[in-house]
Amino acid sequence: MEPLKGLILSGGAGTRLRPITHTSAKQLVPVANKPVLFYGIEALVGAGITEVGIVIAPETGDEIREAAGDGSAFGASITYIPQERPLGLAHAVLTAERFLGDSPFVMYLGDNLLRDGISALADAFREHEPDALILLTRVPDPWHYGVAELDGERVVRLVEKPKDPPSDLALVGVYMFTTAIFEAARAIEPSWRDELEITDAIQRLIDGGSRVESHTVSGWWKDTGQLADMLEANRLVLEDVERRMDGHADTESRVEGRVAIEAGAKLERSVVRGPAIIGAGARVVDSYVGPYTSIDRDVEIVGSEVEHSILLAGASVRNLQTRIEASLLGRNVNLARSHEMPKTLRMIVGDNSEISIP
Ligand code: G1P
Repeated sequence: MEPLKGLILSGGAGTRLRPITHTSAKQLVPVANKPVLFYGIEALVGAGITEVGIVIAPETGDEIREAAGDGSAFGASITYIPQERPLGLAHAVLTAERFLGDSPFVMYLGDNLLRDGISALADAFREHEPDALILLTRVPDPWHYGVAELDGERVVRLVEKPKDPPSDLALVGVYMFTTAIFEAARAIEPSWRDELEITDAIQRLIDGGSRVESHTVSGWWKDTGQLADMLEANRLVLEDVERRMDGHADTESRVEGRVAIEAGAKLERSVVRGPAIIGAGARVVDSYVGPYTSIDRDVEIVGSEVEHSILLAGASVRNLQTRIEASLLGRNVNLARSHEMPKTLRMIVGDNSEISIP
């Protein structure tokens, strides 16, 4: 088989992660302080795939380009492929046809995270040379995904977001294709959500007698499209974090368990209980940072408690009386207790924000 190319889809409006996605691409929201997109690029490179195309949208394309650059930081060469409108995953494949040429390729949805990478799957694809290989995993809520019906190992039917799912096997957002997919993508009609669905294109391959193999993913998989998934992905990635101390903790602070503390980070009279990560230049003073928390660059936590949350660069939390948990704070968000009278809540909050107060 010819060398595989990689195709990462990094468009999409990210509506389910607003307001974070008003100002940033969903693929750049950090999980354990690293943009989700970078895990995908690393997974491809880890499987020996270094020629990578990234499909970008007009709204967020520049930001994605700036973050991933020419790919050299990952040991890859990245080509950017603009898709003018979000007309579906199969449409994105067609948009990238010139970049892909005759190469078989791995298509990776830029907001997906797979614990075990894709090396074993890429090897299976190279070895068996099917027309397409899809990845599946059992989920409790199959109606949110593309769903597969199998007959033994054989894929007999795929349906996108079915009301009445034929199984609990969801399509993971990583697919391996040969050039056969182009013709299939050209042959299908837009779905009810007005998108050319990759699920329908693969069904078309099956109907035309092509060989479509499936693999069930063993390690965890997460599509980080919404807050609960994002927090869960953060928890799962932090589960594997290693203890590291590149910053500074004073003698009155305690670091318990697996906590990665980056250069220039400072802990004063605080307790950090892992797994957690404290980014470069962050300050934690008179505070508690609990398990499954990612504190990004230059965050300040003073006199407060934070747990199971993601705080983006430059955010600050001061003197709150209630512990923050299951939260995602955007860049430079300031949350503080004030002693001004009258005792009221005062806020400037962006569109589509969500706040709950006990
Ligand atoms: C897309 C696919 C779906 C797949 C999912 C995985 O859904 O259409 O088949 O299961 O990605 O993340 P979307 O994110 O467009 O709703």
